[in-house]
Amino acid sequence: MRLDIISIFPEYFAPLDVSLIGKARERGTLDVRVHQLRDWAHDVHKTVDDTPYGGGPGMVMKPEVWGEAIDAVIGDGTPRMIVPTPSGRPFTQELAQELAEEPWLLFACGRYEGIDSRVVAEYATRLRVDEVGIGDYVLAGGEVAVLVMVEAIGRLLPGVLGNAQSAVDDSFAPGSMRNLVEGPVYTKPPVWRGHEVPAVLLSGHHGKIARWRRDEALRRTVANRPELAAALDVDALDKHDRKLLEELSFRVGPEDVAN
Ligand code: ADE
Repeated sequence: MRLDIISIFPEYFAPLDVSLIGKARERGTLDVRVHQLRDWAHDVHKTVDDTPYGGGPGMVMKPEVWGEAIDAVIGDGTPRMIVPTPSGRPFTQELAQELAEEPWLLFACGRYEGIDSRVVAEYATRLRVDEVGIGDYVLAGGEVAVLVMVEAIGRLLPGVLGNAQSAVDDSFAPGSMRNLVEGPVYTKPPVWRGHEVPAVLLSGHHGKIARWRRDEALRRTVANRPELAAALDVDALDKHDRKLLEELSFRVGPEDVAN
């Protein structure tokens, strides 16, 4: 997969040399190219921003600089373009999976109040363009959001994870545990500072272990992500799931509407 990233802070992407993503780059599974946006600014100050039309605080990134940069980076190619912004569609495991199937992604990192909106309008005539937000909070720029997305996407590429099953067991991964977060995990020693590993995990009984893991995933989802638990598909729950949810006094489905 080829990844192009355009930013005024290429230094932000040094972590992409490290760990799983770094190894994937060394092996050639990932071809990451980071570009300095200012290389396409022509005045002595390498200006990339200007005051917003209509007034208001902050600065807006200039369309001409972005246009030249994107044209130069993509040539005649047609990558899928991602613009990180808190006002974008939510980045989810499902979107990460979809993006992991693309051959070429281009990330355009905005700073300040964002990029002049005509840039997305222009490239949307030629490329698939998505504005994407990684959560309901505001970062100082898109760089960290792109690091998050590249890591989530990169680990789904074939051969990047040592154990392909790890991605299958993830919270939010497709399958029977979809919409459940992962439960707790343990390793040796069996007792640490008086805390014991749950006995079922040492039992060697695979059926009981799978059931216990599902119970714990349900408990954690109810405790930490009640909105996910409420949205569980009732028909996909077995008798044991329903009993556990009842014990937790948790009702699946939309809240009763008071009138
Ligand atoms: N840029 C600033 N905040 C962001 C967010 N939450 N997601 C994506 N890009 C951003």
